[in-house]
Amino acid sequence: MDRKQKLELTWIGKYDEIKLEPRILLEDKSKGYGDPNSENMLIHGDNLLALKALEQDFAGKIKCIYIDPPYNTGNAFEQYDDNLEHSIWLNLMKPRLEIIFNLLADDGSLWISIDDDECHYLKVLCDEIFGRKNFVANVIWEKKFSPQNDAKWLSDSHDHILLYAKDKDNWRPNLLPRTAEMDERYKNPDNDPRGPWTSGDLSVKTPNPRDIYPITTPSGRIIMPPESRSWVVSKERFEELLKDNRIWFGKDGNNVPRIKRFLSEVQGGMVSKTIWFRTEVGDNQEAKREVKAFNNDDVFATPKPERLIQRILTLASNPGDLVLDSFLGSGTTAAVAHKMGRRWIGIELGDHCYTHCLPRLKAVVDGEQSGISKVVNWQGGGGFRFFELAPSLLKKDKYGNWVIDERYNADMLAAAMAKHQGFTYAPDSEVFWKQGYSFEKDYIFTTTQFVTLEYLDLIHQEMSEDESLLICCMAFQDGADKRYENINVKKIPQVILNKCDFGVESYSLNIVNLPEIDEEADDNE
Ligand SMILES: C[S@@+](CC[C@H](N)C(=O)[O-])C[C@H]1O[C@@H](n2cnc3c(N)ncnc32)[C@H](O)[C@@H]1O
Repeated sequence: MDRKQKLELTWIGKYDEIKLEPRILLEDKSKGYGDPNSENMLIHGDNLLALKALEQDFAGKIKCIYIDPPYNTGNAFEQYDDNLEHSIWLNLMKPRLEIIFNLLADDGSLWISIDDDECHYLKVLCDEIFGRKNFVANVIWEKKFSPQNDAKWLSDSHDHILLYAKDKDNWRPNLLPRTAEMDERYKNPDNDPRGPWTSGDLSVKTPNPRDIYPITTPSGRIIMPPESRSWVVSKERFEELLKDNRIWFGKDGNNVPRIKRFLSEVQGGMVSKTIWFRTEVGDNQEAKREVKAFNNDDVFATPKPERLIQRILTLASNPGDLVLDSFLGSGTTAAVAHKMGRRWIGIELGDHCYTHCLPRLKAVVDGEQSGISKVVNWQGGGGFRFFELAPSLLKKDKYGNWVIDERYNADMLAAAMAKHQGFTYAPDSEVFWKQGYSFEKDYIFTTTQFVTLEYLDLIHQEMSEDESLLICCMAFQDGADKRYENINVKKIPQVILNKCDFGVESYSLNIVNLPEIDEEADDNE
């Protein structure tokens, strides 16, 4: 058999197809806070369904995605079941990462916290989805200070943060702000009007014979470049620099010449390194203290420190950009994004969406002063809206037929059908049959009424020649579907039945049943 081989990671169930239902999101105004028109979204529900729900409106629009999925370490955390078999874990991550890829802007990036248990498998999975060329770095974050002396093997003190760009050629990180410590190295011993400076070596390791020439110091000493080196600049350039008072021979004018580098001329920041120490970005203990500040009763097991997320958002986003975290946990990413003036979307499945994320984010809007607040001079403001995932649109009745879930009212049904059919739901306040559009002048109208020919004629009279309409209804009179060329009439649920899987309440990260390995088939491979 002619099989084209490729380098890939395979696992049980990798190619099982999931046909995700594009759910609508239901706003719960009682839980939103602050500005009611805010674009920030806190979503409670399974993130695979929620990411799918966002895909239509947000594909290509998100600048920075940070995720901190359960690490699959085999520990049963209080908040979620982390004990997942490796294949199941990869199966759960793959479709989520595929939608995340679609959501990212062309100049966007994904950052994933992970530990040694799955890091290297996750890397290969991400290579497959993002393309290996879009891998940027594996950042090492020092998460713990004290060694665990009871560790059986080595005391684990770091996590990985895998960084991928949607398109590495198109993505550049911002610089990190310079620290006061770095600026302290700049002095001004000769009162240069250009301000503080530091000096650098005037010679280079790879010699250029042209740049080997004698330099006379102000004290009259003649100096050649050190053995097997040359000067870094040509003789002509050296003369220019000397004239511009950019060469330093020491206080007494007798030292080996050095080149002056002015603070005012160095880059406005520093390039990030790939090792991030706890002193710079915080550690697990700092994160727990931050979470305790707003929920002391039920301490969240695995939060990240605000400073760590601040570092990521500084490198990967600018004020006003859209940031997403689909494993929101205690709400750190949303809190930090809010304080840094980014727009944000956070998704969390567990009850701590109510017990941790909600109180934390309300406190942020009110101007709380923990975490990074003081450093960014956070004064409060803004707001967020709260959403729940709608239930599945269809369910089976007692005869096994698919019917619309009774929790759907007319508006929800219209919104859901628009989403299923790829239309943007935007009901027109005057024309009842214009509930949404796909492109200009192509509309959708969903109704639970029986659509008669007469009813259709009325609608058609109102339509201009260049308009077209899709009507989704429960039933229609014979001939209605063929009456007008520019009106397409379809029945619910038939029109959507085979397009996706209905009735799946969650694709959550919990083991239900591990698929059994077909050992015979395996042996034959
Ligand atoms: C390691 S925690 C994230 C911690 C977070 N970075 C913080 O600073 O608090 C992982 C989170 O993912 C959530 N989670 C797990 N499976 C999920 C799913 N299918 N949909 C949404 N959230 C999920 C868990 O409930 C948990 O809160």
